[in-house]
Amino acid sequence: MAPSFDNGSSLFNFVVRDGNGVKGMVDSGISKVPEAYIQPPVEQIDKKNASKCEMPPIDLSRLVGPDHDKVAKEIVRAAETLGFFQVVNHGVPVDLLESLKDTAHNFFGLPAERKAVYRTESSPTPLVKYGTSFVPAKEKALEWKDYISMVYTNDAEVLQHWPIECREVALEYLKTSLDMVKKLLEVLMENLGVKLDDSKIDSLIGNKTVNMNYYPTCPNPELTVGVGRHSDMGTLTVLLQDGIGGLYVKVPDDADIDKKGEWVEIPPVPGALVINVGDMLQILSNGKYKSAEHRVRTTSTKSRVSIPIFTIPKPTEKIAPLPQLVEKDGIARYKEFVLADYMNNFFGNPHDGKKSLDFARI
Ligand code: OGA
Ligand code: NI
Repeated sequence: MAPSFDNGSSLFNFVVRDGNGVKGMVDSGISKVPEAYIQPPVEQIDKKNASKCEMPPIDLSRLVGPDHDKVAKEIVRAAETLGFFQVVNHGVPVDLLESLKDTAHNFFGLPAERKAVYRTESSPTPLVKYGTSFVPAKEKALEWKDYISMVYTNDAEVLQHWPIECREVALEYLKTSLDMVKKLLEVLMENLGVKLDDSKIDSLIGNKTVNMNYYPTCPNPELTVGVGRHSDMGTLTVLLQDGIGGLYVKVPDDADIDKKGEWVEIPPVPGALVINVGDMLQILSNGKYKSAEHRVRTTSTKSRVSIPIFTIPKPTEKIAPLPQLVEKDGIARYKEFVLADYMNNFFGNPHDGKKSLDFARI
């Protein structure tokens, strides 16, 4: 039986503790957004005033051949300004992208008991975590989102521990994306005058996680957020979004592009993947590449899915601006730290724009 959602603690128990998620709450038939999900006015997303990001997707097949330098420049420019871009001809089969979206819908359509097995408190494996919102216990307003998070260690463990309903497609997605991620990192590093060997590139993405996000329909989308303002923690994120839209990026106030300070929508492009710079790449590049502040709107008409791959260095890794850049720039803009400490800070606090980077500031 669904509880009264006007009572904050019974809502929390039903949605968070018992693993019914936002989906369970919506399926129980609510007609308005419960108090616990109403964002303060400054965080609410006004759809009417937002414009679309006009940047065309970058064709990665042209990295090989006579257009290499031109395409590399497009990638660099996007990473230096918005921290977001889209790519096509990325090497991930387009029919796999379709299967991934279907798989995500199927997974979240499973009975709550099946998904709730993977709640942190009870998960049979540390590799898989199912949850809702970001840090529900600490958030003033909850995010309108359920997710499953799957950490990659090796193929054998993945095939044993990731949920049977999604392990094969998710693993295939990860594997077919990694060459692209490495290529992008090579291009970005080369532009900084830094040549990293394969093992160093591998160490920047030593920890790989595939998430499936599910944003149920919302009766009052203007009051809620799917995900609040944040930057991603890692090196590069690859994101598959479906056709619904609602992913917004903030154009930095000091960017050398139009619409400074505005939120622009990254429009769904069939067959494309979204790439964004995370905090670690901003730090390693000594601030040259910008981790992007982004957020997600909810909709009243259709549930939305997205499937990000987060690439992050290993938790034991020491992170600091690359020494070649510090020498060139004459200053280190961030201090050295151990990644695990950054992660604890990041995952221990509610989303708050790019505040996560303060942890590394000198
Ligand atoms: C995320 C995220 C965006 C989206 O999971 O970190 O920003 O479109 N997702 O779902
Ligand atoms: Ni994100």
